[in-house]
Amino acid sequence: MDSEGGGSGGGGGGGAVKDLATPSKFVAAFFLGGLVLGASLLAVQVGISLPPSLQLPPPLWGGRRRRRRRPVRVYMDGCFDMMHYGHCNALRQARALGDELVVGVVSDDEITANKGPPVTPLHERMIMVAAVKWVDEVIPDAPYAITEEFMNKLFNKYNIDYIIHGDDPCLLPDGTDAYALAKKAGRYKQIKRTEGVSSTDIVGRMLLCVRERSTGDSHNHSSLQRQFSHGHGQKVDDGGSASGTRISHFLPTSRRIVQFSNGKGPGPDARIIYIDGAFDLFHAGHVEILRKARELGDFLLVGIHTDQTVSATRGAHRPIMNLHERSLSVLACRYVDEVIIGAPWEVSKDMITTFNISLVVHGTIAENMDFLKKRNEKKEASERKYYEGKTYMSGD
Ligand code: CTP
Repeated sequence: MDSEGGGSGGGGGGGAVKDLATPSKFVAAFFLGGLVLGASLLAVQVGISLPPSLQLPPPLWGGRRRRRRRPVRVYMDGCFDMMHYGHCNALRQARALGDELVVGVVSDDEITANKGPPVTPLHERMIMVAAVKWVDEVIPDAPYAITEEFMNKLFNKYNIDYIIHGDDPCLLPDGTDAYALAKKAGRYKQIKRTEGVSSTDIVGRMLLCVRERSTGDSHNHSSLQRQFSHGHGQKVDDGGSASGTRISHFLPTSRRIVQFSNGKGPGPDARIIYIDGAFDLFHAGHVEILRKARELGDFLLVGIHTDQTVSATRGAHRPIMNLHERSLSVLACRYVDEVIIGAPWEVSKDMITTFNISLVVHGTIAENMDFLKKRNEKKEASERKYYEGKTYMSGD
Protein backbone atom coordinates (compact mmCIF):
# COMPACT_ATOMS: atom_id res chain seq x y z
CA MET A 1 0.00 0.00 0.00
CA ASP A 2 2.73 2.35 1.10
CA SER A 3 5.05 1.55 -1.74
CA GLU A 4 2.25 1.98 -4.30
CA GLY A 5 1.38 5.34 -2.82
CA GLY A 6 5.02 6.44 -3.00
CA GLY A 7 5.37 5.16 -6.52
CA SER A 8 2.53 7.24 -7.91
CA GLY A 9 4.09 10.57 -6.86
CA GLY A 10 7.66 10.04 -7.97
CA GLY A 11 7.90 6.48 -9.23
CA GLY A 12 11.39 6.86 -10.67
CA GLY A 13 12.83 8.41 -7.54
CA GLY A 14 11.23 5.88 -5.18
CA GLY A 15 12.39 2.98 -7.34
CA ALA A 16 15.97 4.21 -7.53
CA VAL A 17 16.25 4.57 -3.78
CA LYS A 18 14.96 1.05 -3.35
CA ASP A 19 17.34 -0.41 -5.94
CA LEU A 20 20.41 1.26 -4.54
CA ALA A 21 19.51 0.03 -1.08
CA THR A 22 20.31 -3.54 -2.22
CA PRO A 23 24.09 -3.85 -1.67
CA SER A 24 24.89 -5.78 -4.87
CA LYS A 25 22.92 -3.36 -7.08
CA PHE A 26 24.52 -0.42 -5.32
CA VAL A 27 27.99 -1.77 -6.12
CA ALA A 28 26.94 -2.34 -9.72
CA ALA A 29 25.57 1.16 -10.08
CA PHE A 30 28.70 2.63 -8.51
CA PHE A 31 30.91 0.62 -10.81
CA LEU A 32 28.93 1.63 -13.91
CA GLY A 33 29.07 5.28 -12.85
CA GLY A 34 32.83 5.03 -12.46
CA LEU A 35 33.16 3.44 -15.88
CA VAL A 36 31.19 6.23 -17.55
CA LEU A 37 33.24 8.87 -15.75
CA GLY A 38 36.51 7.14 -16.71
CA ALA A 39 35.48 6.86 -20.36
CA SER A 40 34.43 10.49 -20.44
CA LEU A 41 37.69 11.70 -18.95
CA LEU A 42 39.64 9.59 -21.42
CA ALA A 43 37.59 11.01 -24.29
CA VAL A 44 38.27 14.57 -23.09
CA GLN A 45 42.00 13.80 -22.99
CA VAL A 46 42.31 12.18 -26.42
CA GLY A 47 39.80 14.50 -28.07
CA ILE A 48 37.23 12.05 -29.35
CA SER A 49 33.54 12.71 -29.16
CA LEU A 50 31.35 10.61 -26.94
CA PRO A 51 27.91 9.41 -27.91
CA PRO A 52 25.37 11.83 -26.40
CA SER A 53 24.20 9.26 -23.82
CA LEU A 54 27.71 9.16 -22.34
CA GLN A 55 28.48 12.86 -22.42
CA LEU A 56 29.22 14.66 -19.15
CA PRO A 57 28.05 18.08 -18.11
CA PRO A 58 30.72 20.84 -18.38
CA PRO A 59 33.64 20.22 -15.97
CA LEU A 60 33.25 21.63 -12.48
CA TRP A 61 36.86 21.08 -11.47
CA GLY A 62 38.49 23.90 -13.36
CA GLY A 63 38.84 22.75 -16.96
CA ARG A 64 39.02 25.49 -19.60
CA ARG A 65 36.77 28.25 -18.24
CA ARG A 66 33.75 29.07 -20.41
CA ARG A 67 33.71 32.61 -21.75
CA ARG A 68 31.21 34.81 -19.90
CA ARG A 69 28.13 35.60 -21.97
CA ARG A 70 27.76 39.28 -22.87
CA PRO A 71 24.61 40.69 -21.28
CA VAL A 72 21.71 41.05 -23.69
CA ARG A 73 20.92 44.75 -23.91
CA VAL A 74 17.46 45.83 -24.96
CA TYR A 75 16.18 49.28 -25.88
CA MET A 76 12.72 50.69 -25.43
CA ASP A 77 11.79 54.24 -26.32
CA GLY A 78 8.73 56.31 -25.64
CA CYS A 79 7.25 59.60 -24.57
CA PHE A 80 6.36 58.38 -21.07
CA ASP A 81 4.15 61.43 -20.67
CA MET A 82 2.15 61.46 -17.40
CA MET A 83 3.91 58.23 -16.53
CA HIS A 84 1.49 55.50 -15.43
CA TYR A 85 1.60 51.84 -14.47
CA GLY A 86 1.02 50.84 -18.15
CA HIS A 87 4.40 52.39 -18.99
CA CYS A 88 5.95 50.67 -15.96
CA ASN A 89 4.52 47.34 -17.08
CA ALA A 90 5.97 47.90 -20.57
CA LEU A 91 9.40 48.55 -19.03
CA ARG A 92 9.04 45.46 -16.84
CA GLN A 93 8.26 43.25 -19.85
CA ALA A 94 11.07 44.82 -21.91
CA ARG A 95 13.60 44.16 -19.14
CA ALA A 96 12.49 40.53 -19.02
CA LEU A 97 13.56 40.16 -22.70
CA GLY A 98 17.20 40.90 -21.85
CA ASP A 99 19.67 41.51 -19.05
CA GLU A 100 19.95 45.30 -19.25
CA LEU A 101 17.30 47.81 -20.26
CA VAL A 102 18.22 51.12 -21.91
CA VAL A 103 15.33 53.57 -22.29
CA GLY A 104 15.21 56.42 -24.79
CA VAL A 105 12.98 59.29 -23.68
CA VAL A 106 11.65 61.20 -26.68
CA SER A 107 12.37 64.95 -26.78
CA ASP A 108 9.61 67.54 -26.23
CA ASP A 109 10.04 68.80 -29.82
CA GLU A 110 9.74 65.35 -31.35
CA ILE A 111 6.57 64.61 -29.35
CA THR A 112 5.08 67.95 -30.35
CA ALA A 113 5.82 67.26 -34.03
CA ASN A 114 4.37 63.73 -33.94
CA LYS A 115 1.54 63.73 -31.36
CA GLY A 116 1.11 67.26 -30.02
CA PRO A 117 2.77 68.88 -26.99
CA PRO A 118 3.49 66.68 -23.96
CA VAL A 119 1.95 67.49 -20.57
CA THR A 120 5.21 66.79 -18.67
CA PRO A 121 8.54 68.23 -19.87
CA LEU A 122 11.56 66.09 -20.72
CA HIS A 123 13.39 66.54 -17.40
CA GLU A 124 10.36 65.30 -15.43
CA ARG A 125 9.81 62.41 -17.82
CA MET A 126 13.49 61.49 -17.37
CA ILE A 127 13.12 61.46 -13.55
CA MET A 128 10.06 59.23 -13.82
CA VAL A 129 11.68 56.71 -16.19
CA ALA A 130 14.95 56.59 -14.23
CA ALA A 131 12.99 55.87 -11.03
CA VAL A 132 11.48 52.66 -12.44
CA LYS A 133 13.23 49.66 -10.92
CA TRP A 134 13.60 47.74 -14.18
CA VAL A 135 15.50 50.54 -15.96
CA ASP A 136 19.31 50.38 -16.17
CA GLU A 137 20.13 53.41 -18.36
CA VAL A 138 18.24 56.38 -19.74
CA ILE A 139 19.01 58.28 -22.97
CA PRO A 140 17.51 61.79 -23.19
CA ASP A 141 16.16 63.40 -26.36
CA ALA A 142 15.57 60.17 -28.24
CA PRO A 143 14.01 60.52 -31.70
CA TYR A 144 10.36 59.50 -32.16
CA ALA A 145 11.16 57.27 -35.14
CA ILE A 146 14.09 54.85 -35.30
CA THR A 147 16.14 56.31 -38.16
CA GLU A 148 19.00 54.39 -39.77
CA GLU A 149 21.55 56.68 -38.12
CA PHE A 150 20.02 56.31 -34.66
CA MET A 151 19.63 52.55 -35.07
CA ASN A 152 23.35 52.22 -35.88
CA LYS A 153 24.17 54.35 -32.85
CA LEU A 154 22.07 52.02 -30.70
CA PHE A 155 23.81 48.92 -32.09
CA ASN A 156 27.38 50.27 -32.14
CA LYS A 157 27.58 52.81 -29.31
CA TYR A 158 25.04 51.40 -26.86
CA ASN A 159 25.54 47.70 -27.79
CA ILE A 160 21.81 47.19 -28.11
CA ASP A 161 20.65 43.75 -29.24
CA TYR A 162 16.93 44.37 -29.61
CA ILE A 163 14.57 47.32 -29.95
CA ILE A 164 11.28 46.83 -28.15
CA HIS A 165 7.84 48.42 -28.33
CA GLY A 166 4.28 47.61 -27.27
CA ASP A 167 1.99 45.74 -29.68
CA ASP A 168 0.04 48.90 -30.58
CA PRO A 169 0.86 50.40 -33.99
CA CYS A 170 3.24 53.34 -33.72
CA LEU A 171 2.73 55.41 -36.85
CA LEU A 172 4.47 58.56 -38.02
CA PRO A 173 2.38 61.49 -39.33
CA ASP A 174 2.91 60.17 -42.91
CA GLY A 175 1.39 56.82 -41.91
CA THR A 176 4.63 54.82 -41.95
CA ASP A 177 5.76 52.53 -39.11
CA ALA A 178 8.22 54.18 -36.67
CA TYR A 179 9.94 50.80 -36.14
CA ALA A 180 10.08 49.65 -39.79
CA LEU A 181 13.91 49.71 -39.98
CA ALA A 182 14.39 47.79 -36.72
CA LYS A 183 11.88 45.17 -37.92
CA LYS A 184 13.71 44.88 -41.26
CA ALA A 185 17.02 44.41 -39.45
CA GLY A 186 15.46 41.51 -37.47
CA ARG A 187 16.23 43.28 -34.22
CA TYR A 188 12.68 44.16 -33.14
CA LYS A 189 10.68 42.53 -30.35
CA GLN A 190 7.20 43.27 -29.13
CA ILE A 191 5.61 43.27 -25.70
CA LYS A 192 1.94 43.29 -24.80
CA ARG A 193 0.42 46.71 -24.26
CA THR A 194 -1.34 47.12 -20.90
CA GLU A 195 -5.05 47.52 -21.36
CA GLY A 196 -7.08 50.10 -19.55
CA VAL A 197 -4.69 53.00 -19.17
CA SER A 198 -3.11 55.68 -21.34
CA SER A 199 -2.06 59.31 -20.97
CA THR A 200 -5.16 60.30 -22.96
CA ASP A 201 -7.36 58.35 -20.53
CA ILE A 202 -5.80 60.10 -17.57
CA VAL A 203 -6.27 63.56 -19.08
CA GLY A 204 -9.89 62.57 -19.74
CA ARG A 205 -10.37 61.54 -16.11
CA MET A 206 -8.86 64.84 -14.96
CA LEU A 207 -11.18 66.83 -17.21
CA LEU A 208 -14.18 64.92 -15.92
CA CYS A 209 -13.17 65.63 -12.35
CA VAL A 210 -12.62 69.32 -13.02
CA ARG A 211 -16.05 69.52 -14.63
CA GLU A 212 -17.63 67.81 -11.64
CA ARG A 213 -15.85 70.05 -9.21
CA SER A 214 -17.01 73.18 -11.02
CA THR A 215 -20.61 71.98 -11.19
CA GLY A 216 -20.40 70.72 -7.59
CA ASP A 217 -22.03 67.50 -8.72
CA SER A 218 -20.93 65.31 -5.85
CA HIS A 219 -23.70 62.76 -6.44
CA ASN A 220 -22.39 62.06 -9.92
CA HIS A 221 -18.90 61.99 -8.62
CA SER A 222 -19.57 59.20 -6.20
CA SER A 223 -20.82 57.08 -9.09
CA LEU A 224 -17.79 58.11 -11.10
CA GLN A 225 -15.56 57.25 -8.15
CA ARG A 226 -17.13 53.81 -7.94
CA GLN A 227 -16.39 53.24 -11.62
CA PHE A 228 -12.77 54.33 -11.17
CA SER A 229 -12.41 52.08 -8.19
CA HIS A 230 -14.16 49.04 -9.55
CA GLY A 231 -12.81 49.27 -13.05
CA HIS A 232 -15.97 49.26 -15.18
CA GLY A 233 -15.23 49.84 -18.82
CA GLN A 234 -18.14 52.10 -19.67
CA LYS A 235 -17.81 55.24 -21.65
CA VAL A 236 -19.07 58.25 -19.81
CA ASP A 237 -20.59 61.06 -21.77
CA ASP A 238 -18.38 64.06 -21.27
CA GLY A 239 -21.07 66.59 -21.77
CA GLY A 240 -21.25 67.42 -25.41
CA SER A 241 -17.86 66.36 -26.69
CA ALA A 242 -18.21 63.67 -29.28
CA SER A 243 -15.41 61.51 -27.92
CA GLY A 244 -16.59 60.63 -24.42
CA THR A 245 -14.06 59.59 -21.81
CA ARG A 246 -13.21 56.04 -21.07
CA ILE A 247 -13.09 55.17 -17.40
CA SER A 248 -10.42 52.79 -16.15
CA HIS A 249 -11.22 49.17 -16.91
CA PHE A 250 -8.11 47.99 -15.17
CA LEU A 251 -8.72 44.75 -13.32
CA PRO A 252 -6.12 44.23 -10.66
CA THR A 253 -4.94 40.64 -10.43
CA SER A 254 -2.75 39.09 -7.76
CA ARG A 255 -0.31 38.07 -10.52
CA ARG A 256 0.21 41.69 -11.61
CA ILE A 257 0.85 42.74 -8.03
CA VAL A 258 3.35 39.90 -7.61
CA GLN A 259 5.07 40.91 -10.88
CA PHE A 260 5.55 44.44 -9.56
CA SER A 261 6.62 43.37 -6.05
CA ASN A 262 10.16 42.88 -4.83
CA GLY A 263 9.06 39.74 -3.01
CA LYS A 264 11.52 40.38 -0.18
CA GLY A 265 10.84 41.42 3.37
CA PRO A 266 13.16 43.47 5.56
CA GLY A 267 16.26 41.83 7.05
CA PRO A 268 16.28 41.08 10.80
CA ASP A 269 18.03 44.34 11.80
CA ALA A 270 16.63 46.56 9.05
CA ARG A 271 15.68 50.12 9.88
CA ILE A 272 12.17 50.31 8.47
CA ILE A 273 10.93 53.69 7.30
CA TYR A 274 7.23 54.35 6.83
CA ILE A 275 5.66 57.01 4.66
CA ASP A 276 2.02 57.22 3.65
CA GLY A 277 -0.08 59.23 1.25
CA ALA A 278 -2.43 59.22 -1.72
CA PHE A 279 0.29 59.06 -4.40
CA ASP A 280 -2.34 59.99 -6.96
CA LEU A 281 -1.01 60.69 -10.50
CA PHE A 282 2.45 59.53 -9.44
CA HIS A 283 4.91 62.29 -10.36
CA ALA A 284 8.52 63.52 -9.99
CA GLY A 285 7.75 65.09 -6.57
CA HIS A 286 6.63 61.70 -5.25
CA VAL A 287 9.80 60.09 -6.59
CA GLU A 288 11.92 62.69 -4.80
CA ILE A 289 10.23 62.24 -1.41
CA LEU A 290 10.44 58.45 -1.71
CA ARG A 291 14.15 58.71 -2.57
CA LYS A 292 14.77 60.88 0.49
CA ALA A 293 12.69 58.62 2.74
CA ARG A 294 14.56 55.51 1.56
CA GLU A 295 17.88 57.18 2.38
CA LEU A 296 16.83 57.34 6.04
CA GLY A 297 16.80 53.56 6.47
CA ASP A 298 17.20 50.14 4.89
CA PHE A 299 13.61 49.32 3.96
CA LEU A 300 10.89 51.67 2.76
CA LEU A 301 7.29 50.72 3.49
CA VAL A 302 4.74 52.94 1.76
CA GLY A 303 1.13 53.16 2.93
CA ILE A 304 -1.31 53.98 0.12
CA HIS A 305 -4.54 55.51 1.40
CA THR A 306 -7.86 54.07 0.27
CA ASP A 307 -9.95 55.88 -2.37
CA GLN A 308 -12.45 56.77 0.38
CA THR A 309 -9.75 58.33 2.58
CA VAL A 310 -8.40 60.34 -0.37
CA SER A 311 -11.89 61.59 -1.26
CA ALA A 312 -12.58 62.53 2.34
CA THR A 313 -9.32 64.46 2.74
CA ARG A 314 -8.70 65.92 -0.73
CA GLY A 315 -12.21 66.45 -2.00
CA ALA A 316 -14.84 64.33 -3.70
CA HIS A 317 -13.21 64.71 -7.13
CA ARG A 318 -10.11 62.76 -6.05
CA PRO A 319 -8.40 60.36 -6.50
CA ILE A 320 -7.95 60.29 -10.27
CA MET A 321 -6.25 56.89 -10.17
CA ASN A 322 -7.80 54.16 -8.05
CA LEU A 323 -6.10 52.40 -5.14
CA HIS A 324 -4.68 49.53 -7.18
CA GLU A 325 -3.44 51.79 -9.96
CA ARG A 326 -1.74 54.03 -7.40
CA SER A 327 -0.23 51.01 -5.65
CA LEU A 328 1.32 49.68 -8.88
CA SER A 329 2.92 53.05 -9.70
CA VAL A 330 4.46 53.24 -6.23
CA LEU A 331 5.58 49.58 -6.32
CA ALA A 332 7.40 50.16 -9.62
CA CYS A 333 9.54 52.85 -7.99
CA ARG A 334 13.08 51.67 -7.24
CA TYR A 335 13.15 53.32 -3.80
CA VAL A 336 10.13 51.38 -2.52
CA ASP A 337 10.42 47.98 -0.88
CA GLU A 338 6.81 47.24 0.01
CA VAL A 339 3.39 48.88 0.01
CA ILE A 340 0.32 48.64 2.21
CA ILE A 341 -2.60 48.63 -0.23
CA GLY A 342 -5.19 50.67 1.63
CA ALA A 343 -3.32 52.13 4.60
CA PRO A 344 -5.22 53.82 7.43
CA TRP A 345 -5.15 57.62 7.71
CA GLU A 346 -3.62 57.45 11.17
CA VAL A 347 -0.43 55.58 11.90
CA SER A 348 -1.45 53.54 14.93
CA LYS A 349 0.78 52.09 17.63
CA ASP A 350 -0.36 48.68 16.46
CA MET A 351 0.94 49.36 12.95
CA ILE A 352 4.30 50.48 14.26
CA THR A 353 4.64 47.25 16.24
CA THR A 354 3.27 44.95 13.53
CA PHE A 355 5.54 46.32 10.79
CA ASN A 356 8.46 47.00 13.14
CA ILE A 357 8.61 50.61 11.90
CA SER A 358 11.62 52.62 13.12
CA LEU A 359 10.68 55.99 11.69
CA VAL A 360 7.55 57.57 10.24
CA VAL A 361 8.32 60.35 7.76
CA HIS A 362 6.25 63.00 6.03
CA GLY A 363 6.99 65.69 3.48
CA THR A 364 6.94 69.39 4.41
CA ILE A 365 3.68 69.80 2.52
CA ALA A 366 1.29 68.09 4.89
CA GLU A 367 -2.03 66.63 3.82
CA ASN A 368 -3.59 67.62 7.09
CA MET A 369 -3.16 71.41 7.12
CA ASP A 370 -4.73 71.86 10.58
CA PHE A 371 -1.41 71.83 12.36
CA LEU A 372 -0.07 74.50 9.96
CA LYS A 373 -3.12 76.66 10.68
CA LYS A 374 -2.50 76.33 14.41
CA ARG A 375 1.21 77.07 13.99
CA ASN A 376 0.47 80.20 11.91
CA GLU A 377 -2.07 81.46 14.46
CA LYS A 378 0.52 81.06 17.23
CA LYS A 379 3.17 82.83 15.15
CA GLU A 380 0.85 85.73 14.34
CA ALA A 381 -0.07 86.12 18.01
CA SER A 382 3.57 86.25 19.10
CA GLU A 383 4.45 88.75 16.35
CA ARG A 384 1.53 90.96 17.35
CA LYS A 385 2.75 90.92 20.93
CA TYR A 386 6.27 91.80 19.81
CA TYR A 387 5.23 94.80 17.71
CA GLU A 388 2.76 96.04 20.32
CA GLY A 389 5.62 96.37 22.84
CA LYS A 390 7.76 98.39 20.41
CA THR A 391 7.66 102.19 20.36
CA TYR A 392 9.56 102.62 17.08
CA MET A 393 10.90 100.48 14.26
CA SER A 394 14.61 100.54 13.52
CA GLY A 395 16.23 100.52 10.07
CA ASP A 396 14.23 100.66 6.91
N1 CTP B 1 2.65 51.24 -23.36
C1 CTP B 1 2.04 50.09 -22.88
N2 CTP B 1 0.81 50.17 -22.29
C2 CTP B 1 0.18 51.36 -22.17
C3 CTP B 1 0.79 52.55 -22.64
C4 CTP B 1 2.04 52.44 -23.22
O1 CTP B 1 2.60 49.00 -23.00
N3 CTP B 1 -1.03 51.38 -21.63
C5 CTP B 1 3.97 51.13 -24.00
C6 CTP B 1 4.00 51.60 -25.46
O2 CTP B 1 3.56 50.60 -26.33
C7 CTP B 1 5.45 51.95 -25.62
C8 CTP B 1 5.88 52.45 -24.25
O3 CTP B 1 4.87 52.01 -23.33
O4 CTP B 1 6.21 50.81 -25.94
C9 CTP B 1 5.99 53.96 -24.21
O5 CTP B 1 4.74 54.50 -24.63
P1 CTP B 1 4.58 56.00 -25.08
O6 CTP B 1 5.60 56.34 -26.08
O7 CTP B 1 4.55 56.86 -23.88
O8 CTP B 1 3.26 56.09 -25.88
P2 CTP B 1 1.79 55.72 -25.74
O9 CTP B 1 1.58 54.34 -26.21
O10 CTP B 1 1.10 56.79 -26.51
O11 CTP B 1 1.41 55.84 -24.22
P3 CTP B 1 0.13 56.64 -23.75
O12 CTP B 1 -0.99 56.27 -24.67
O13 CTP B 1 -0.17 56.28 -22.34
O14 CTP B 1 0.49 58.10 -23.89
